[in-house]
Amino acid sequence: MRLDVVSIFPDYLAPLDLSLIGKARREGLVDLHVHDLRDFTHDRHRTVDDTPYGGGAGMVMRPEPWGEALDHVVAAGAAAVGGGVPHLVVPGPGGRPFTQELARELAQQPWLAFACGRYEGIDERVYDEAREHMPVSVLSLGDYVLNGGEVAVLAMVEAIARLIPGVIGNAESLVEESHEDGLLEYPVYTKPPVWRGRGIPEVLLSGHHGQIARWRRDERLRRTAQRRPDMLAALDPAALDERDRAV
Ligand code: ADE
Repeated sequence: MRLDVVSIFPDYLAPLDLSLIGKARREGLVDLHVHDLRDFTHDRHRTVDDTPYGGGAGMVMRPEPWGEALDHVVAAGAAAVGGGVPHLVVPGPGGRPFTQELARELAQQPWLAFACGRYEGIDERVYDEAREHMPVSVLSLGDYVLNGGEVAVLAMVEAIARLIPGVIGNAESLVEESHEDGLLEYPVYTKPPVWRGRGIPEVLLSGHHGQIARWRRDERLRRTAQRRPDMLAALDPAALDERDRAV
């Protein structure tokens, strides 16, 4: 997968060199390019923002550097990917919620570009123009406000890239994760068997795979009911058996 990120703080994306995503880059599974928006300015101060039309607080990102940056991304990427356009993701608190389902969809794409906004946002014409050339999704991490899109891109790229075949060594670990099937994860334990006087649930030592699976499912249901009643309410009733309903 090719990934392009445009930001005024390219160093913010340095963590993408670490851990599993860094390894995926070195192995050629992820081809990541970070671009400095200021490279697409032409004035001495490398200006990327200006005051909003209509007045109000804060600054708005000017359209010209964004237009040039996205033109560059499309041209450079098309040469590398062999044509086409990226799916453009713009993180922002006013976007659609970024979910595991969206991460799965985006992980299927051959090419994603991320535009990191700052200040009060990017001039709306940049979105309008980009939509004429490529799919554009404005996505939010959650109902809170960050200073810019960079931290959101770190989170989104990690959520997406780990779903690319080969990035996570043990693909089985993706199956029973929170948000994969509408339930949160069950609690997990490892050695030692007693720690600070606390043991582990007896059933996990029983060697009885059926009972362990049932216990884990009970715990997932209990946890989801407690922490995320909204998720439980959204669950397809057909996905629940008799025993589930008893939990
Ligand atoms: N930029 C600022 N706040 C954000 C949020 N909640 N999600 C994604 N991008 C953002």
